Formats: sequence, C-alpha cells, structure tokens
Amino acid sequence: MTKTLNHAARMADITPFYVMELLGRAKALEAQGRKIIHMEVGEPDFPTPEPIVEAGIRALAAGQTKYTLALGTPELREAIAKFYRQRYGVDISPRRIAVTPGASGALQLALAALIDPGDDVILADPGYPCNRNIIRLLGGNPVDIPVGIDTAYQLTPALVSRHITASTTAIMLTNPSNPTGTLVPSGNMAGILERTGGENVAPIIRATNTPINDRQRPTPARENRGKNSRRAALVVDEIYLGLVYGENTNAADTNTALALSEDIFVVSGFSKYFGMTGWRLGWLVAPESFMRVIEKLAQNLYLSAPTTAQHAALAAFESGTLKTLEARRKEFEQRRDFLLPALRKLGFDIPVTPRGAFYLYADCGRFSQDSLAFALEILENTGVAITPGLDFGKNSSQRHVRFAYTTCMENLREGVERLRDYLD
Ligand SMILES: Cc1ncc(COP(=O)(O)O)c(C=O)c1O
Repeated sequence: MTKTLNHAARMADITPFYVMELLGRAKALEAQGRKIIHMEVGEPDFPTPEPIVEAGIRALAAGQTKYTLALGTPELREAIAKFYRQRYGVDISPRRIAVTPGASGALQLALAALIDPGDDVILADPGYPCNRNIIRLLGGNPVDIPVGIDTAYQLTPALVSRHITASTTAIMLTNPSNPTGTLVPSGNMAGILERTGGENVAPIIRATNTPINDRQRPTPARENRGKNSRRAALVVDEIYLGLVYGENTNAADTNTALALSEDIFVVSGFSKYFGMTGWRLGWLVAPESFMRVIEKLAQNLYLSAPTTAQHAALAAFESGTLKTLEARRKEFEQRRDFLLPALRKLGFDIPVTPRGAFYLYADCGRFSQDSLAFALEILENTGVAITPGLDFGKNSSQRHVRFAYTTCMENLREGVERLRDYLD
C-alpha cells in the first residue's frame, strides 16, 4: 500500500487570505501594462525614515549580524519603555518588554503563553484574520462576536459579560481596529478589563464547537491552573495606535491600555506608524509574571528578532524621525478626509467615521452581496484593488469591502474617479 503525506488535520481550519487572490490578478494586469491603484495593501506607501535606514546600514557595517538575547537588546527594550513614558506618560519596566519579529511575533507569543487546547478566545468580527488562525493553530477556539455600528465595531463590557465563560482564556481587542479604523473608548476598555475578573462567569465549561474530547479531558496544565478561578487575559493590539486622527481627541481614548493596569498584554510594533513593515520588528508588553514563559517561547520559536532591525529601530524614537512620522500621520489624515466623503458620495455606506489606522470599511450592499466577486469585478473593470470583507470574518462580510488609503492623494483621486465612471 502506498502511504501518503498528510498535513495536520487542523490545517483545514486555517483560512486563506482572499486578498492574495486579488493581488495575483492585480499583478497579472500590471504585467499586461494596466495601471493598478492599490487600495488593498495594509502597509504605508512611505519609505522607512532615513535616520532608521542609516542606523541599519551603520549596524550592518559594524558587524551587528549575530543573534541578540531572545527578548531583544537591552538598549531597544529601554528605548521602547522610554517611548511609553514620553508619549503616553506610562511607566513600563523594560523587563516587561519582549522585542519580536513583527507585531505578528508578539501576537503569537501572547496567545501561545495563554492558550491551552480547548480554551476560548473572544474577538470582534470583523477583525484581523490572523488572530483567529493563530488561536486555531494553538488548539484554541476563536469565539467571534459580531460587532456593528452600534458599538463602533468594537467589543463592549456588555458584550464581554454576555460571552465570557470559564473556558475564556483571553479577550482580544485591536485599537484602532483593522479593518474598521475605530477606537475602543477608554471607559469601555476599563469596563472590559473589569469583566475579565469573571464576576458573571459561569463555573461550567460552555459547549462550543470544540471537539468534545478536548473539553472533557482538560490537560494537567489546565487542571493545575484552576480553570474556574483564573481570570481571562486582556490582549490589546495597538499596532495602529500611533495613527489616530482628529483635533478634539479625548486623550484617554487614544492612550495605551497599559495606563489601566500592569496585567494587560499589549502588542505593538514598528511596521505601521514607523514605516518598517519589511524589517520585521514588533514588541509585546506582558505582565511581569509571564516574562519567563515568554522568554522560553521566544528562545524556542525564533531565537531572537532581526538584529540589524533592532539596531536600526533605535533611531525610530529620535526627535527628527518622530517629526517625519507626525507629518506622515497628518498626510494619512488628509487622505482619510478626502476618501471618506468621496466613497460615501459614490454610494458606499460608511456609517462610523474611522478615527485611526488607514482603513475604511465600507458597506457595498448597494452594488453587490458578494464582496469577493465585487472586488474582482472592480479590479477587472477599473484597475482599483480593494480587499473583500470576507477576509475579516463572517459578520456581514459578503457586503463589505476594505479600502486602504496607503497610496498618494493623486492615486486616491484617480481611484475615486475610475470607480465613479464604472459605478455610475
Ligand atoms: C491589527 C494588526 N496586527 C498585527 C499586524 C501584523 O503586523 P507586523 O507586520 O508588525 O507583523 C497587522 C498587519 O497588518 C495588523 O493589521
């Protein structure tokens, strides 16, 4: 009998990124000479600021090409702590900071440190798709909570109270959100944190779609932890927190969740605000009691974050660099202020004004009930690439698309014109 190679059964639960199909087609059209306006990519169009690039070159020339400590260089951990102090007025011990390969590495560390097989993690739908897939990879269950315009597409204390159970190991928030760009008001963040104590938690394990075997036979680790007495962890992804817009901002709403408690996990990094996507550098701030576990995970999963990038990133916090980054933030704001009314005028419904990130999550129900087919149709007929809502969850995702304003104003104008010509 011929034996075959099989992938792990749980791979069937890992969802693809539909936007990649779209990108493939966009590249094929570009190869044919079509000009494609890219509003699908979630990365800044700006290059990495010059001082960071120069610091990277200097580090390479000085031979900084070996592994660092698993949690990152002491200098960078110190610099990140100083950044929190200066920008947010929050004192974080550098000991609580792990430098990671992108915010992705930080998400993986935090979730791996928290999830036992069969544990639930509460998340908002629509939301960043990788979270669900990392949870599944670790044997956990993503518990997707549909969120809409009534809560600005974010979880609320009431929603958390309704869904938290003794099986909930973590609640994840993305602030500002990808794909909706909306914020969690600080009052809600504090309210959600209160609910993690589980006053309303049922002391039994709720039946979900987890295989029953996982639930009936908890691992020794889970038994040791006392699953009915633990609190759920709050994991807040603040990768877009540097990109918040508007003048009459409530300062508390745009502060880091770290201001609320030392028992929160915060994921962040250099990709978005700092314009360093390809350098693969992020960080995790975790409760101090978790740092040994996180260090062990980092040692085993990736040894250390990229060394050259860690040296380069020290220049990210210099005042000259921050000035450049603030000018770029202003430019993103101008793009939002152009694109939002322009899309509304075309017939896209965007009921909540996004406060941050660089995304607009638009209801395209007036044009189509099939967001993937619609995105492909738009690409084919107008050369404008956008992301189908399908990538962000199941909640009304067939009638939503995401526009990223990660391209220059001139391209945004041309994109809107092409859409107008076609949709009219
Ligand atoms: C919400 C969110 N978290 C994390 C990431 C991953 O960022 P990084 O490139 O730093 O791994 C992204 C990237 O798009 C994101 O949108």
